[in-house]
Amino acid sequence: MSELLVKNAALAAGDKSDIFIRDGFIAEVAETIDGVPDNVPVLDAGGCLVTAPFVDCHFHLDATLSYGLPRVNQSGTLLEGIKLWGELKPYLTADALIERALTLCRWSIARGTLAIRTHVDISDPSLLAVEAMLEVKRQMAPFIDFQLVAFPQDGLLRADCMDNLVRALDMGVDVVGGIPHFERTMEHGARSVALLCELAAKRGLLVDMHCDESDDPLSRHVESLAMETIRLGMQGRVAGSHLTSMHSMDNYYVSKLLPLMREAELHVIANPLINITLQGRHDTYPKRRGMTRVPEQMAAGLTVAFGHDCVMDPWYPLGSHDMLEVASMGLHVAQMTGLNQMHHCFDAVTHDPAKILHLENYGLHKGCNGDLVILQANDVIDALRLKPPRIAVVRRGKVISATQPVRYDLTLGETKVQTDLTTTDLVWR
Ligand code: FE2
Repeated sequence: MSELLVKNAALAAGDKSDIFIRDGFIAEVAETIDGVPDNVPVLDAGGCLVTAPFVDCHFHLDATLSYGLPRVNQSGTLLEGIKLWGELKPYLTADALIERALTLCRWSIARGTLAIRTHVDISDPSLLAVEAMLEVKRQMAPFIDFQLVAFPQDGLLRADCMDNLVRALDMGVDVVGGIPHFERTMEHGARSVALLCELAAKRGLLVDMHCDESDDPLSRHVESLAMETIRLGMQGRVAGSHLTSMHSMDNYYVSKLLPLMREAELHVIANPLINITLQGRHDTYPKRRGMTRVPEQMAAGLTVAFGHDCVMDPWYPLGSHDMLEVASMGLHVAQMTGLNQMHHCFDAVTHDPAKILHLENYGLHKGCNGDLVILQANDVIDALRLKPPRIAVVRRGKVISATQPVRYDLTLGETKVQTDLTTTDLVWR
């Protein structure tokens, strides 16, 4: 029997709590837990924020850490990124893919990200990336919950790769993906959405499509995705990733679209770091932000999450798989600076993506998995502001990553003071 007692936790809602984990599951959450035998290990959170692990619902693990191979993206556009990835594909090996992905997984764990939905390119008939990512999923299973999405990067119809996609699902890939805006025509895009949703419905699988990742206000595949979801009775099982064209759509059209998305219970996944980087590249000034209409979608009752999408790959040169960096960027781009809105941005990298992934036993309640993260922060706002060290990352009741809190010793003339950048010392607290 394995046990762990986490003392003095500050929960996201503001409560102070102890958390007792037994055999990998949370056995008790209470303001004070007494009577635990002396031989049970104790992890003192010291009043710091404790959260359920971060969840990245949109990533590309097969392309990660390939930045500069074989060259960098000069234009900074999505389309050059896709071209560049195509140039790299003939040189990929399973060993290199696995090595880069495992390195990224170590970064993820250190950042407290313990669930990842990753799109895997199935355009190449060899399905090399699928085999490699399935191996990574197998090796990392004790530490990270992975969902793999069969992603036809070059277009389902454009690259004629339905056969590859079906084979990828047969090999164990979990979710059906798509990229309708990259098909040759709007009609082909709509047809690809219908074909992929029908396949997912037949197999009882979830759907997550790259959809309308464009500044074109007339890119309306999200409408087809919502309608197919309703037609096939897949409400709550389909996600539209990116949806950046919604940023540029006509307001009247959006007022009709949002209720349709609500009727379909379509989930939304925005990728703030990547959207603000890739979109608006054809604009002079004013330059569009390109992220989808997050606050309006939340107000319409949709589940909206933020994904990281890329770390050091053909589309994005930076990143360390820190979901707090993602939430912070989303908050800024969507101008969600209200107190409740900032909490929603934190939920968009924790509870909301967990819901989209249909993760079981996620959270910090009795019966949930014994997974949590202790941050060097007093509360959620501190966490968003500082993106602080993850002091401890716990998976199924065991500490799998730890670091010392960061403090700065200042010598100001004769006075020596210490700060950790948190708000602990402020009088109004
Ligand atoms: Fe993506």
